[in-house]
Amino acid sequence: MAAAAATVRHGSASSTSVSLAIVLAAVAITCSSFPPSSAAAKAAPCSSQTFSGTGGGQQHPYASCADLPRLGATLHYNYTAATNTVAVAFRAPQAKGDDGWVAWGINPSGSTGMVGTQAVVAFQHSNGSLVAYPTVLDSYVPSMAPAAPGDLAFPVSDVAAEYADGKEMVVYATLALPAGKGSKFTQVWQQGTAVVNDVPAAHPTTGDNILSTATIDFSD
Ligand SMILES: *[C@@H]1O[C@H](CO)[C@@H](O)[C@H](O)[C@H]1NC(C)=O
Ligand SMILES: *[C@@H]1O[C@H](CO)[C@@H](O)[C@H](O)[C@H]1NC(C)=O
Repeated sequence: MAAAAATVRHGSASSTSVSLAIVLAAVAITCSSFPPSSAAAKAAPCSSQTFSGTGGGQQHPYASCADLPRLGATLHYNYTAATNTVAVAFRAPQAKGDDGWVAWGINPSGSTGMVGTQAVVAFQHSNGSLVAYPTVLDSYVPSMAPAAPGDLAFPVSDVAAEYADGKEMVVYATLALPAGKGSKFTQVWQQGTAVVNDVPAAHPTTGDNILSTATIDFSD
């Protein structure tokens, strides 16, 4: 009797293990087949980032995000095909402390270089405020001055900035994309270590700082 009972207990323990294994296998299959591989490639960290301020206080107010291949930056975006506008949140670690700057933009010329980029830049002003504004990178030594609306190749609105997780900066903007160029653009982003007299100073000209460009299709 004791042996039979032991056998029964053993048997039920095995069948529990077998069903648990089936459940785990089913979970593994579900996880690996969804989301599709293109989305899985950018699973972290952008999809786990949340925002606190602008964006209506929603935890993750953008439909899409991309992990950019340099400088630890991410881009979150909502593309509206009907109006050809895109609302973006560019997020990047600060190079050091809180005296640096971050910038992101698109170069509508299609060039992968910085010249011609219509950017938004953010940094901490000497008065203590985090400031953000659009600027045109019209040469390799751009003024980084705020662009007058007529200076920009397309309208940029709702520009704002905030700190995230203490050490990162987020720049928000809405771009009315230039007509006739579809939804695929060259994006360029940057991070600098110094702001002098409330003007972002030159960024390093080596390594990731000169490789921080990629194409993005906002409709993806
Ligand atoms: C992005 O789109 C979603 C879905 O339409 C919306 O809920 C959210 O408010 C939008 N976020 C921004 C920042 O426009
Ligand atoms: C700091 O200066 C910026 C740029 O001039 C301005 O937009 C902002 O309101 C100022 N903040 C304070 C607290 O004075």
